[in-house]
Amino acid sequence: MSLVFKLRDVRKLRIAEGANFCLVVPQLDIAAGEKVALVGESGCGKSTLLDMLVMVLRPSSVNEFVFAPDGKVPLDVWLAWETSRWNVLSDLRKQYMGYVLQTGGLLPFLTVWDNINLSRQILSMPDDGTVRALAKTLGIRRQLNKLPGILSVGERQRVAIARALAHRPPIVLADEPTAAVDPVQAKKIMGVFLGLAEELGTTVIVASHNTQFVVQLGMRPVRQIFRPSKKKGVINSVFQG
Ligand SMILES: Nc1ncnc2c1ncn2[C@@H]1O[C@H](COP(=O)(O)OP(=O)(O)O)[C@@H](O)[C@H]1O
Ligand SMILES: [Mg+2]
Repeated sequence: MSLVFKLRDVRKLRIAEGANFCLVVPQLDIAAGEKVALVGESGCGKSTLLDMLVMVLRPSSVNEFVFAPDGKVPLDVWLAWETSRWNVLSDLRKQYMGYVLQTGGLLPFLTVWDNINLSRQILSMPDDGTVRALAKTLGIRRQLNKLPGILSVGERQRVAIARALAHRPPIVLADEPTAAVDPVQAKKIMGVFLGLAEELGTTVIVASHNTQFVVQLGMRPVRQIFRPSKKKGVINSVFQG
């Protein structure tokens, strides 16, 4: 079993007024092809942890943070941050990751087709029918020539999922991808998403506030637990796999 992510004692301190917030990940191992859900209430640090996994947010301190997208060369992510090798991080992100933002994050001036094709275009990948096939599976084929603004919220989320999968990244991360749709739609969209990921062997990491929902979908929950810090005025939010 090859690990895509290996984290040991990763922390992120957020300085805010009143109580400061410290996200703590004592140990997190995510294997290739796994479907993992980071679960906990709003404000517990799910997006913060996703941002660190996507390597856009630098942790405050780390014992070990390794990313091995293709099971071959593991990257010491912490060393890359410490030595300011942001280009290494962003190249790996572009090539190996897809990201579904909570609100879709679609570009309003591009058609649905162009939105889905965006990551493929950045990576100079030719049109091999992937965009159309994904749109068909996700039930948005008839929307391909439209602008995102006229789509329903559920359709937009489907487009965002198609976009994250279009360049066939081995890892897809999604921040509460179905929070804005009703439970029936949420189950349907997540079912299609996880089915596609299974077919492609994609590792999936999702943030969700609904443990029951993600467990029903067959995902492995990584739960958040609060724990008082020894330091005064700091709230520790610990994620335990
Ligand atoms: N850019 C930021 N600067 C400082 N604090 C932040 C920032 N973003 C989020 N926070 C704080 O970090 C904590 C975790 O936030 P977040 O990761 O967004 O939680 P969740 O995604 O679980 O709702 C919250 O207390 C939030 O207010
Ligand atoms: Mg969030």
